[in-house]
Amino acid sequence: MMKVLVMDGVAEQGLVPLRRQPDIEVVIGEKMTEDQLVEVIGQYDALIVRSATKVTARVIEAANKLKVIGRAGVGVDNIDRNAATNKGIVVVNAPDGNTIAAAEHTMAMMLALARKVPAACGKLKNGCWDKKAFLGVELRGKTLGIIGLGRIGSAVAKRAQAMEMHIIAYDPYIAEEHARKMAVEIVTLQELFKRADFITVHMPKTKETYHMINKEAFEQMKDGVRIINCARGGIIDEAALYEYMVNGKVAGAALDVFETEPCTDSPLLQLENFIATPHLGASTQEAQINVAVDVAEEIVAALRGELVKNA
Ligand code: NAD
Ligand code: MLT
Repeated sequence: MMKVLVMDGVAEQGLVPLRRQPDIEVVIGEKMTEDQLVEVIGQYDALIVRSATKVTARVIEAANKLKVIGRAGVGVDNIDRNAATNKGIVVVNAPDGNTIAAAEHTMAMMLALARKVPAACGKLKNGCWDKKAFLGVELRGKTLGIIGLGRIGSAVAKRAQAMEMHIIAYDPYIAEEHARKMAVEIVTLQELFKRADFITVHMPKTKETYHMINKEAFEQMKDGVRIINCARGGIIDEAALYEYMVNGKVAGAALDVFETEPCTDSPLLQLENFIATPHLGASTQEAQINVAVDVAEEIVAALRGELVKNA
């Protein structure tokens, strides 16, 4: 029997492709420390995680039977891929299943920022009917700057176009043809900072994108800009964001992801025009089933020595 350890509450309905295999045993793991994972990982042929479990070099070092690590989602930044590759362990992800969930969450954040929904709701729940305090702005006619026009960035562009926004984007790695077909104007990063009323980031966290939205970037932005990050913590320098929200340059910001997660004590959380969610971008019933099915199918293929699509 081959054994697959499933962590981080990956959707049970999505594990059907694994449970159908007579020679594969599925073990659902509880939250573990690195030490606990190091202790048990040697028994397993495959491991499935979302973002909570960190698959470090130490874990991989102890993983003597492991053939494949599956990420039920897009970002593989919680897995030490170099260590895995050096040990001959394949890393697969599920890049398509949560695109719509993350794009819809981005739209929810943008609308909530524009109309100050969380602050108004909080005040009303505290017994205060304060109609005057929450004058918002419309999305129609505003310029949305999208950094990273991949799957989620493109899905956001399409939805924002339906809100009659003008879309500009910066992405040095996409084909111009893709942007042209979507009626998105490709601009330099400097131009995006200068023109956008709303800025949303949709790229992976890499050495290149780490703190890409920093003091220097905020200086170039329009007064009253609103910022959204439903991609990865660390793309926005949170200390700089706080400074530019307090000095009034940034009218509002919405973060779903933080440089350190869980994040419960950031000074940003004290600001009324700051909206936060606890990494919920992919948290829809649909997306969680999609990514679990996709990754389970990839794990079966990898364990059988067949071709995997998303390595
Ligand atoms: P994707 O690979 O389809 O798109 C990423 C895009 O970023 C690509 O087009 C790439 O060319 C671009 N890019 C890379 N480096 C760049 C740079 N330096 N400047 C500008 N663009 C750059 O990925 P995706 O599925 O759209 O996911 C985007 C991000 O969202 C990832 O970080 C992913 O982990 C994250 N994500 C978060 C959640 C959540 O729960 N909040 C859910 C899904 C995905
Ligand atoms: C992803 O990269 O897919 C997200 O972080 C989603 C998740 O929370 O798993």
